[in-house]
Amino acid sequence: MHPTATEKINIAIDGYSGCGKSTLAKDLARCLNYIYLDSGAMYRAVTLFFQHSHLDYLRADELEQGLKDINITFDHSGEQPQMLLNGENVEKQIRSQTVNEEVSQIARVSVIRRFLVEKQKRIARNKGVIMEGRDIGTVVLPSAEYKLFLTAETETRVNRRYEQLMESDGKVDIDSIRKNLIERDRIDSSRKDSPLRKAADAIVLDNTNLSREQQLLWVVEDILRHFNFIQLNKDCLLSKASR
Ligand code: DC
Repeated sequence: MHPTATEKINIAIDGYSGCGKSTLAKDLARCLNYIYLDSGAMYRAVTLFFQHSHLDYLRADELEQGLKDINITFDHSGEQPQMLLNGENVEKQIRSQTVNEEVSQIARVSVIRRFLVEKQKRIARNKGVIMEGRDIGTVVLPSAEYKLFLTAETETRVNRRYEQLMESDGKVDIDSIRKNLIERDRIDSSRKDSPLRKAADAIVLDNTNLSREQQLLWVVEDILRHFNFIQLNKDCLLSKASR
């Protein structure tokens, strides 16, 4: 049966750290009027919680106790979604280098993954969601209608992350960013539970030499090729081009 114009799909975007998944997912969400969900932010919020608590997530009883006390929600009222941890806006804190350094360890813990994956699946139940992460196409939304696997050369990713952190922190060391990025990729791809993998039916896009606008155009055209019933926001590409 062919979907109608009002029908929505789910879109899964996976890939290595710093390859622009969030930027693309946000741009697409605006173009399609879909909900954007940054699953990495949820792993970051759990990391922040345990860093600020006296609980040890490697001990089963303390982990269980901690997860009972964690309430993770997104505030979508502003221009950018904000991560709320137990009601507090932690959007800036979860992007810090301290969190960067521990988040991949947290994301290896199966109990934490199950806790977050269940929430992620629930958010996507009604479709119209663009979710980005490491296991979205393979584990969280294996039946997402459109799956993308983003890649970019390491040095490009390092520079992008550097610029991002310079904007928010102002003091960052490019060598430690490089080290952290490579180490996170290694841990994320080699962990036992839900390692970063390209789903068999995902489309690969290497965006090393693409600008933000070129990347968006490429993906929008590809989505429309597959799902010609999807309606675009009228100014989706126009507003980007005029920036
Ligand atoms: O996308 P990000 O850099 O904000 O993600 C932070 C970490 O969270 C990343 O190093 C691995 C983990 N993560 C994960 O294991 N699974 C996801 N779906 C998203 C993120």
